[in-house]
Amino acid sequence: MFKKETYVNRRKALKEKVGSGLLLFLGNDECGANYEDNTYPYRQDSSFLYYFGLPFAGLNAIIDIDNDREIIFGDELTIDHIVWMGTQPTLHEKAELIGINETLPSRDITAYLDKAVKSGRKIHYLPTYRPEHKLKLWEYLGIKPGTEMPSVDMIRAIVDMRNHKTDEEIVEIERACNVTADMHIEATKVLRPGMKEYEVVAALEAVAAANGCGLSFPTIATVCGQTLHNHYHGHTVKPGDMLLVDAGAETEMGYAGDMSSTICADKKFTTRQKEIYDIQVASHLAAVAALKPGVPFKDVYELSARVICQGLKDLGIMKGDPAEAVAAGAHAMFFPCGLGHMMGLDVHDMENLGEVWVGYDGQPKSTQFGRKSLRLARPLEPGFVLTIEPGVYFIPELIDYWKAEKRFEDFIDYGKLESYRDFTGIRNEEDYLITADGARRLGKKIPLTTDEVEALR
Ligand code: GLY
Ligand code: MN
Repeated sequence: MFKKETYVNRRKALKEKVGSGLLLFLGNDECGANYEDNTYPYRQDSSFLYYFGLPFAGLNAIIDIDNDREIIFGDELTIDHIVWMGTQPTLHEKAELIGINETLPSRDITAYLDKAVKSGRKIHYLPTYRPEHKLKLWEYLGIKPGTEMPSVDMIRAIVDMRNHKTDEEIVEIERACNVTADMHIEATKVLRPGMKEYEVVAALEAVAAANGCGLSFPTIATVCGQTLHNHYHGHTVKPGDMLLVDAGAETEMGYAGDMSSTICADKKFTTRQKEIYDIQVASHLAAVAALKPGVPFKDVYELSARVICQGLKDLGIMKGDPAEAVAAGAHAMFFPCGLGHMMGLDVHDMENLGEVWVGYDGQPKSTQFGRKSLRLARPLEPGFVLTIEPGVYFIPELIDYWKAEKRFEDFIDYGKLESYRDFTGIRNEEDYLITADGARRLGKKIPLTTDEVEALR
């Protein structure tokens, strides 16, 4: 945890931003995987962590702005808990760590909220993403699941604070990024033809564990890199394959790293693989060079997509003007996802609060295939932490679908493309902090070019 003042100051700033009413924070409970006592690894809600820092199940909190009260609701451990799970500080001791003096038993929250509702006060709460959140809102406030009306004022205030990382958060994120980089370097070194994907997963996840970290999301390590979020690890890696690895560490405090690499199964890439890889690298470097305050991330995305189209045009896979191809949406055949996303206490930071607030500052998102998957578009500001992860993908089903519809025939040479249908996909990903006048990579360098990958093989 950070020092007490961090949490005190964050809550003070939040109160000033929202101004009035009562802020309800629903902590996360344990969640049974296949029976109640066999739980998934516990993860506290990230906004709860940000303002209250306590990584324990069974807590909720209220910031009563109008009455200047901050209360943690929870229950003391029983002797049964202690016998099976060990001891913990008392609730009051936990609350003191974050500068809160008032604690109440869990059951008291309903009466507290009931009184507030009856006196017509505004209760702010966040969007729900777990069944237990929905049940709590139902129990505490009588809000039936599916009828929640999260507070836009609370969302916007929290997004504004959490989007701007402080120096102490950067230290923590950089630690996650360094461990993440080591995971990728390890994967790049250990991969050999004949290995199962899951053997590479074991090697890289061991690096996280050996550094006291968990994972910030389920590891991707696949010879089918054209599938963007491919969590299957059962293939054997064959000579000539490429393994796309997307994996990240999460520190004990909950901060994420998120990087991707694409590794040749052999000691060297083939010429054909290098040609596409170089396009990905050119797009990646162009995006990084464009990062600075004031630049809309949407423009960085458009730039990275144009570089991909130009590279594919040079290989004869695309044709026409790259800028026109991107404006029309033809690039999405090869780059159907976004360029990057905010990162912090969540790997996709605050995705539960709504991308339109986090990445678009309330502006509408495009509905165009490909462009609609861009999670971040707003002008960049110092303190933003984001990923850069352009990719070049050859998705056989998408090729067949668009070809049958004769889509973008002015921009895509379907005859040439046919010979690439089994190429799979390439993505490299790094994490950046927007600084006062540019951007700084977070964490040590991972191999980015084919030469850099081959040097570790
Ligand atoms: N690292 C997974 C993603 O960014 O979607
Ligand atoms: Mn990512």
